[in-house]
Amino acid sequence: MAVTINTLREFKQKGEAFAALTSYDATFSQAVSEAGVHVILIGDSLGMVLQGHDSTLPVTMDQMVYHVSCVAKGNRGSLIMADMPFMSYGTVESALENAAELMRAGAHMVKLEGTDWMKETITALTERAVPVCAHLGLTPQFVNKFGGYKVQGRDEKAAEMMIEHACELEAAGADVILLECVPAPLAARIAQAVRAPVIGIGAGPDTDGQILVLHDMLGITSGRKPRFVKNFLAETDSIQDALQAYVKAVGERTFPAEEHTFKA
Ligand code: KIV
Repeated sequence: MAVTINTLREFKQKGEAFAALTSYDATFSQAVSEAGVHVILIGDSLGMVLQGHDSTLPVTMDQMVYHVSCVAKGNRGSLIMADMPFMSYGTVESALENAAELMRAGAHMVKLEGTDWMKETITALTERAVPVCAHLGLTPQFVNKFGGYKVQGRDEKAAEMMIEHACELEAAGADVILLECVPAPLAARIAQAVRAPVIGIGAGPDTDGQILVLHDMLGITSGRKPRFVKNFLAETDSIQDALQAYVKAVGERTFPAEEHTFKA
């Protein structure tokens, strides 16, 4: 049975955790999907993992459309989420046009990074049949505003603000919230505050779903390994086993463990 937004809502209602991973091509999307991963994200992280840039900013709409269409061909029933790249949703009009391209290429949902300024855009998209995931916390497209890749929402004022933004974006129509690099207690508060399924990366064990970058969880990313990453290929020599181990660990809530979590 294909995974839909309703499947993710059911996971949340039952208090069960679903697994998400990035993929960028047909071969890996088939493997990821067949391993039981519920959501495949064509992340603009491809700018870093595939293209070797030091940020996601150079990724273009044409590149995203190409990778979404590759992933859609390999997919075997996972929900396909596509990142809207840097400045592709700077205005409501550009968001509508660019989201339509990603949906035509095979996406089931688009993901946007930002806070309350996205409300009008999210309403416009969702009213026109484009499901939206709102990405809060460490939003990599804002790296130059943040001055680096840093944990967000550490003090109470910033935490309250993030909770408020999550609620506002849900009210504007967001179907899913994604939290990146936030303290686990804050992610738990947000997951309780909204009805929408909340996916976490570096956000502790209490979100409704977990996501990792595929190359990170296979241990093949060069450079510094972020705290929240676990190499699932370390304990097996089979990629398929590693993918299945990830799905199992997320479902059993043994991943993320304490060592993958930011406390405050
Ligand atoms: O681009 C990406 O891969 C992402 C994940 C890190 C959530 O946004």
